[in-house]
Amino acid sequence: QGGFDLHKTVVLVGMMGAGKTAVGRALAARLGVPFLDSDAEIESAANMTIPEIFERDGEPFFRTKESQVIGRLLDEQKGILSTGGGAFLQPENRRIIAEKGAAVWLRADLNVLWTRVRHKDTRPLLRTADPYATLKSLYEARVPVYAQADLTVDSDGETSIENMVGRVVDA
Ligand code: S3P
Repeated sequence: QGGFDLHKTVVLVGMMGAGKTAVGRALAARLGVPFLDSDAEIESAANMTIPEIFERDGEPFFRTKESQVIGRLLDEQKGILSTGGGAFLQPENRRIIAEKGAAVWLRADLNVLWTRVRHKDTRPLLRTADPYATLKSLYEARVPVYAQADLTVDSDGETSIENMVGRVVDA
């Protein structure tokens, strides 16, 4: 049972810890449309976690799978699509998202992101000697690319998921 009549899939992009999955799920529930999640699709197809895929097959393999999954999900049905933080960095993914969806950047300050990811061990890219420095350099390199999204929605440390959903709907 669909509620809102989506003309395009809304693709949430942004850094790890921006809330893409939590906001995407709540937004889809609010609008009564399907929730799609590229990382979750990759994990269930491989029957492995993202860290296991990075470890066994490497990041380039993961990026290939990620592009295939995003292309397939955009073709299959309209809904809210949460992507992994690196997805929008690939020019081919940006091209297909622009063609078949609308990109929304969930923007948050570096320190907010760090607070959200620092205690988790689910991000292989942050398994470095200095994960804060790694996050910071990813952040600085990626912000100009995320800024190419169709819309930007800000969150700070205080913003609840429901507030973020409201901001995305308003935007
Ligand atoms: C990545 C972010 C992760 C996941 C993978 C790579 C990235 O997704 O796709 O670990 O390159 O920023 P989240 O943004 O949901 O953490």
